[in-house]
Amino acid sequence: MAYETLLVDRDGPVAIITINRPKVLNALNELVLAELSRAFDQLEADRSVLAVVITGAGERAFVAGADIGELAALAHAKAGEEKARAGHEVGHKMEHSRLPVIVAINGYALGGGLELAMAGDVRLASANAKLGQPEVNLGIVAGFGGSQRLPRLVGQGMASYLLLSGEQISADEAKQANLVEKVYPPDQLLPEAVKLAKTIAAKGPLAIAATKRLIHKGMQTDLHSALELEAVEFGKISATKDAKEGTKAFLEKRPADFTGH
Ligand code: COA
Repeated sequence: MAYETLLVDRDGPVAIITINRPKVLNALNELVLAELSRAFDQLEADRSVLAVVITGAGERAFVAGADIGELAALAHAKAGEEKARAGHEVGHKMEHSRLPVIVAINGYALGGGLELAMAGDVRLASANAKLGQPEVNLGIVAGFGGSQRLPRLVGQGMASYLLLSGEQISADEAKQANLVEKVYPPDQLLPEAVKLAKTIAAKGPLAIAATKRLIHKGMQTDLHSALELEAVEFGKISATKDAKEGTKAFLEKRPADFTGH
Protein backbone atom coordinates (compact mmCIF):
# COMPACT_ATOMS: atom_id res chain seq x y z
CA MET A 1 0.00 0.00 0.00
CA ALA A 2 2.05 2.98 -1.17
CA TYR A 3 0.72 6.50 -0.84
CA GLU A 4 2.24 9.86 -1.75
CA THR A 5 0.35 11.94 0.77
CA LEU A 6 -0.43 9.48 3.56
CA LEU A 7 1.54 7.36 5.97
CA VAL A 8 -0.29 4.23 7.04
CA ASP A 9 1.21 2.41 10.04
CA ARG A 10 0.04 -0.47 12.16
CA ASP A 11 0.04 -0.94 15.93
CA GLY A 12 -1.50 -4.39 16.41
CA PRO A 13 -5.13 -4.24 15.25
CA VAL A 14 -5.01 -0.44 14.91
CA ALA A 15 -4.17 1.29 11.61
CA ILE A 16 -2.82 4.82 11.99
CA ILE A 17 -3.33 7.11 8.99
CA THR A 18 -1.20 10.27 9.01
CA ILE A 19 -2.02 12.92 6.42
CA ASN A 20 1.45 13.91 5.34
CA ARG A 21 1.72 17.35 3.69
CA PRO A 22 3.16 19.28 6.64
CA LYS A 23 4.53 22.12 4.47
CA VAL A 24 0.97 23.16 3.67
CA LEU A 25 -0.41 22.17 7.09
CA ASN A 26 -1.73 18.92 5.58
CA ALA A 27 -4.20 20.69 3.30
CA LEU A 28 -6.52 18.31 1.46
CA ASN A 29 -5.78 18.34 -2.24
CA GLU A 30 -7.36 15.97 -4.77
CA LEU A 31 -4.65 13.39 -4.25
CA VAL A 32 -5.10 13.30 -0.46
CA LEU A 33 -8.84 12.77 -0.91
CA ALA A 34 -8.30 10.02 -3.49
CA GLU A 35 -5.71 8.33 -1.29
CA LEU A 36 -7.89 8.56 1.82
CA SER A 37 -10.69 6.96 -0.13
CA ARG A 38 -8.37 4.16 -1.29
CA ALA A 39 -6.86 3.72 2.20
CA PHE A 40 -10.30 3.28 3.78
CA ASP A 41 -11.20 0.67 1.13
CA GLN A 42 -7.99 -1.24 1.80
CA LEU A 43 -8.31 -1.11 5.58
CA GLU A 44 -11.96 -2.11 5.37
CA ALA A 45 -10.98 -5.23 3.41
CA ASP A 46 -8.18 -6.21 5.80
CA ARG A 47 -9.87 -8.26 8.51
CA SER A 48 -6.82 -7.95 10.79
CA VAL A 49 -7.57 -4.20 11.14
CA LEU A 50 -10.12 -3.49 13.85
CA ALA A 51 -9.84 0.28 14.40
CA VAL A 52 -8.38 3.36 12.72
CA VAL A 53 -6.69 6.47 14.10
CA ILE A 54 -6.36 9.43 11.76
CA THR A 55 -4.05 12.36 12.44
CA GLY A 56 -1.87 14.98 10.71
CA ALA A 57 1.90 15.10 10.21
CA GLY A 58 3.95 17.63 12.17
CA GLU A 59 3.11 19.56 15.29
CA ARG A 60 1.05 22.40 13.87
CA ALA A 61 -1.92 20.97 12.10
CA PHE A 62 -4.32 18.11 11.79
CA VAL A 63 -5.56 19.55 8.47
CA ALA A 64 -5.80 23.29 7.69
CA GLY A 65 -8.57 22.78 5.15
CA ALA A 66 -9.08 21.99 1.52
CA ASP A 67 -6.12 23.03 -0.63
CA ILE A 68 -6.83 26.70 -1.35
CA GLY A 69 -4.67 26.63 -4.50
CA GLU A 70 -7.02 24.03 -5.97
CA LEU A 71 -10.09 25.96 -4.80
CA ALA A 72 -8.80 29.09 -6.53
CA ALA A 73 -8.51 27.16 -9.78
CA LEU A 74 -12.10 25.87 -9.81
CA ALA A 75 -13.36 27.13 -13.16
CA HIS A 76 -17.10 26.49 -13.02
CA ALA A 77 -19.93 25.31 -10.79
CA LYS A 78 -19.70 21.69 -11.94
CA ALA A 79 -16.01 21.52 -10.95
CA GLY A 80 -16.86 22.86 -7.50
CA GLU A 81 -19.67 20.34 -7.12
CA GLU A 82 -17.34 17.50 -8.06
CA LYS A 83 -14.79 18.72 -5.50
CA ALA A 84 -17.48 18.71 -2.79
CA ARG A 85 -18.55 15.21 -3.81
CA ALA A 86 -14.97 13.94 -3.55
CA GLY A 87 -14.90 15.23 0.05
CA HIS A 88 -18.30 13.70 0.75
CA GLU A 89 -17.12 10.34 -0.54
CA VAL A 90 -14.35 10.16 2.05
CA GLY A 91 -16.72 11.16 4.86
CA HIS A 92 -19.25 8.61 3.65
CA LYS A 93 -16.65 5.83 3.67
CA MET A 94 -15.57 6.72 7.19
CA GLU A 95 -19.13 6.84 8.47
CA HIS A 96 -20.21 3.62 6.74
CA SER A 97 -17.08 1.68 7.59
CA ARG A 98 -17.21 -1.29 9.96
CA LEU A 99 -14.11 0.30 11.54
CA PRO A 100 -14.30 2.78 14.41
CA VAL A 101 -12.40 5.93 13.41
CA ILE A 102 -10.68 7.91 16.17
CA VAL A 103 -9.59 11.37 15.03
CA ALA A 104 -6.50 12.78 16.76
CA ILE A 105 -6.69 16.54 16.15
CA ASN A 106 -3.08 17.59 16.68
CA GLY A 107 -3.36 21.29 15.80
CA TYR A 108 -5.41 23.26 13.26
CA ALA A 109 -8.60 21.52 12.13
CA LEU A 110 -10.04 24.11 9.79
CA GLY A 111 -12.56 23.87 6.96
CA GLY A 112 -12.12 20.50 5.26
CA GLY A 113 -9.99 19.43 8.24
CA LEU A 114 -12.81 19.90 10.69
CA GLU A 115 -15.20 18.33 8.19
CA LEU A 116 -12.96 15.27 7.93
CA ALA A 117 -12.77 15.10 11.73
CA MET A 118 -16.55 15.27 12.01
CA ALA A 119 -16.94 12.22 9.77
CA GLY A 120 -14.98 10.19 12.35
CA ASP A 121 -16.56 8.46 15.33
CA VAL A 122 -14.65 10.05 18.22
CA ARG A 123 -12.62 13.27 18.22
CA LEU A 124 -9.69 13.77 20.59
CA ALA A 125 -7.77 17.04 20.48
CA SER A 126 -4.42 18.32 21.66
CA ALA A 127 -4.63 21.32 24.00
CA ASN A 128 -3.16 23.57 21.29
CA ALA A 129 -5.72 22.62 18.62
CA LYS A 130 -7.75 25.30 16.88
CA LEU A 131 -10.98 24.40 15.15
CA GLY A 132 -13.16 26.34 12.76
CA GLN A 133 -14.99 26.62 9.45
CA PRO A 134 -13.28 29.63 7.83
CA GLU A 135 -14.77 29.13 4.34
CA VAL A 136 -16.72 32.40 4.47
CA ASN A 137 -13.39 34.24 4.80
CA LEU A 138 -12.68 32.95 1.29
CA GLY A 139 -16.13 33.83 0.00
CA ILE A 140 -17.18 30.17 -0.18
CA VAL A 141 -19.27 27.74 1.89
CA ALA A 142 -18.32 24.55 3.69
CA GLY A 143 -18.40 21.80 1.07
CA PHE A 144 -17.14 18.58 2.65
CA GLY A 145 -20.13 18.09 4.95
CA GLY A 146 -19.57 20.92 7.42
CA SER A 147 -22.86 22.73 6.87
CA GLN A 148 -24.69 19.49 7.73
CA ARG A 149 -22.54 17.56 10.23
CA LEU A 150 -21.66 20.60 12.36
CA PRO A 151 -25.26 21.50 13.34
CA ARG A 152 -25.97 17.82 13.98
CA LEU A 153 -22.99 17.65 16.35
CA VAL A 154 -23.11 20.97 18.16
CA GLY A 155 -26.62 22.34 17.51
CA GLN A 156 -27.75 25.13 15.23
CA GLY A 157 -26.55 28.08 17.31
CA MET A 158 -22.92 27.06 17.69
CA ALA A 159 -22.83 25.77 14.10
CA SER A 160 -24.11 29.09 12.84
CA TYR A 161 -21.58 30.94 15.00
CA LEU A 162 -18.69 28.95 13.50
CA LEU A 163 -19.93 28.76 9.90
CA LEU A 164 -21.05 32.40 9.67
CA SER A 165 -18.19 34.09 11.55
CA GLY A 166 -15.28 31.93 10.36
CA GLU A 167 -13.89 32.26 13.92
CA GLN A 168 -11.53 29.61 15.30
CA ILE A 169 -12.19 28.09 18.72
CA SER A 170 -9.76 26.44 21.12
CA ALA A 171 -9.72 22.74 22.03
CA ASP A 172 -11.33 23.54 25.39
CA GLU A 173 -14.10 25.55 23.74
CA ALA A 174 -14.58 22.71 21.24
CA LYS A 175 -14.93 20.27 24.13
CA GLN A 176 -17.53 22.49 25.79
CA ALA A 177 -19.41 22.55 22.49
CA ASN A 178 -19.30 18.71 22.17
CA LEU A 179 -17.20 19.07 19.04
CA VAL A 180 -14.37 17.06 20.63
CA GLU A 181 -14.71 14.45 23.33
CA LYS A 182 -11.38 14.81 25.19
CA VAL A 183 -8.42 17.20 25.26
CA TYR A 184 -4.85 16.04 25.97
CA PRO A 185 -1.40 17.65 26.20
CA PRO A 186 0.13 17.48 22.69
CA ASP A 187 2.60 14.67 23.49
CA GLN A 188 -0.16 12.48 24.93
CA LEU A 189 -2.67 12.88 22.10
CA LEU A 190 -1.53 10.11 19.75
CA PRO A 191 -0.79 7.56 22.51
CA GLU A 192 -4.23 8.23 24.00
CA ALA A 193 -5.89 7.93 20.58
CA VAL A 194 -4.16 4.59 19.94
CA LYS A 195 -5.05 3.42 23.45
CA LEU A 196 -8.72 4.21 22.86
CA ALA A 197 -8.59 2.51 19.45
CA LYS A 198 -7.09 -0.61 21.07
CA THR A 199 -9.74 -0.58 23.79
CA ILE A 200 -12.44 -0.57 21.11
CA ALA A 201 -10.57 -3.13 18.99
CA ALA A 202 -10.68 -5.57 21.92
CA LYS A 203 -14.51 -5.68 21.82
CA GLY A 204 -16.59 -7.87 19.54
CA PRO A 205 -16.06 -6.43 16.04
CA LEU A 206 -19.62 -7.26 14.94
CA ALA A 207 -21.01 -5.40 17.95
CA ILE A 208 -18.78 -2.41 17.22
CA ALA A 209 -19.84 -2.28 13.55
CA ALA A 210 -23.52 -2.67 14.50
CA THR A 211 -23.24 0.09 17.10
CA LYS A 212 -21.76 2.41 14.48
CA ARG A 213 -24.56 1.58 12.04
CA LEU A 214 -27.22 2.19 14.68
CA ILE A 215 -25.80 5.55 15.72
CA HIS A 216 -25.48 6.85 12.17
CA LYS A 217 -28.75 5.44 10.78
CA GLY A 218 -30.65 6.23 13.95
CA MET A 219 -29.56 9.88 13.97
CA GLN A 220 -31.21 10.28 10.57
CA THR A 221 -34.57 8.81 11.39
CA ASP A 222 -37.38 9.24 13.90
CA LEU A 223 -37.08 7.58 17.30
CA HIS A 224 -39.72 4.92 16.69
CA SER A 225 -38.11 3.71 13.44
CA ALA A 226 -34.65 3.95 15.01
CA LEU A 227 -35.71 1.72 17.91
CA GLU A 228 -37.00 -0.78 15.35
CA LEU A 229 -33.53 -0.80 13.79
CA GLU A 230 -32.03 -1.36 17.24
CA ALA A 231 -34.33 -4.32 17.95
CA VAL A 232 -33.39 -5.97 14.65
CA GLU A 233 -29.63 -5.39 15.15
CA PHE A 234 -29.86 -6.58 18.75
CA GLY A 235 -31.50 -9.77 17.56
CA LYS A 236 -28.87 -10.39 14.88
CA ILE A 237 -25.96 -9.68 17.20
CA SER A 238 -27.42 -11.81 20.03
CA ALA A 239 -27.28 -14.80 17.69
CA THR A 240 -23.54 -14.46 16.93
CA LYS A 241 -20.73 -16.62 18.30
CA ASP A 242 -19.16 -13.49 19.77
CA ALA A 243 -22.31 -12.80 21.80
CA LYS A 244 -22.21 -16.36 23.18
CA GLU A 245 -18.50 -16.01 23.91
CA GLY A 246 -18.83 -12.56 25.57
CA THR A 247 -21.64 -13.55 27.90
CA LYS A 248 -20.09 -16.96 28.69
CA ALA A 249 -16.71 -15.36 29.43
CA PHE A 250 -18.37 -12.95 31.87
CA LEU A 251 -20.09 -15.78 33.70
CA GLU A 252 -16.84 -17.79 33.77
CA LYS A 253 -14.94 -14.71 35.05
CA ARG A 254 -12.42 -14.70 32.19
CA PRO A 255 -11.60 -12.28 29.35
CA ALA A 256 -13.63 -12.84 26.18
CA ASP A 257 -11.92 -14.06 23.03
CA PHE A 258 -13.87 -12.45 20.19
CA THR A 259 -13.42 -13.69 16.63
CA GLY A 260 -15.83 -11.50 14.67
CA HIS A 261 -18.28 -14.34 14.00
N1 COA B 1 -4.44 25.24 1.44
C1 COA B 1 -3.23 25.41 0.88
N2 COA B 1 -2.15 25.84 1.57
C2 COA B 1 -2.31 26.10 2.87
C3 COA B 1 -3.53 25.95 3.53
C4 COA B 1 -4.64 25.50 2.75
N3 COA B 1 -5.85 25.28 3.29
N4 COA B 1 -3.39 26.29 4.83
C5 COA B 1 -2.11 26.64 4.98
N5 COA B 1 -1.45 26.53 3.80
C6 COA B 1 -0.03 26.80 3.54
C7 COA B 1 0.26 28.29 3.54
O1 COA B 1 -0.05 28.86 2.28
C8 COA B 1 1.73 28.31 3.84
O2 COA B 1 2.44 27.97 2.68
P1 COA B 1 3.82 28.76 2.31
O3 COA B 1 4.77 28.37 3.41
O4 COA B 1 4.19 28.22 0.98
O5 COA B 1 3.48 30.21 2.33
C9 COA B 1 1.90 27.13 4.81
O6 COA B 1 0.74 26.30 4.62
C10 COA B 1 1.94 27.54 6.26
O7 COA B 1 0.80 28.33 6.53
P2 COA B 1 0.88 29.85 7.08
O8 COA B 1 -0.37 30.55 6.65
O9 COA B 1 2.17 30.50 6.69
O10 COA B 1 0.88 29.58 8.65
P3 COA B 1 0.34 30.54 9.79
O11 COA B 1 0.80 29.97 11.06
O12 COA B 1 0.64 31.96 9.49
O13 COA B 1 -1.28 30.39 9.69
C11 COA B 1 -3.35 29.19 9.43
C12 COA B 1 -1.89 29.15 9.91
C13 COA B 1 -3.92 27.80 9.52
C14 COA B 1 -4.18 30.15 10.31
C15 COA B 1 -3.40 29.71 7.97
O14 COA B 1 -2.49 28.92 7.21
C16 COA B 1 -4.74 29.63 7.31
O15 COA B 1 -5.58 30.46 7.57
N6 COA B 1 -4.93 28.62 6.43
C17 COA B 1 -6.13 28.50 5.65
C18 COA B 1 -7.25 27.97 6.48
C19 COA B 1 -8.52 27.89 5.65
O16 COA B 1 -9.08 28.87 5.23
N7 COA B 1 -8.99 26.66 5.45
C20 COA B 1 -10.23 26.42 4.80
C21 COA B 1 -10.04 26.15 3.38
S1 COA B 1 -11.65 25.79 2.68
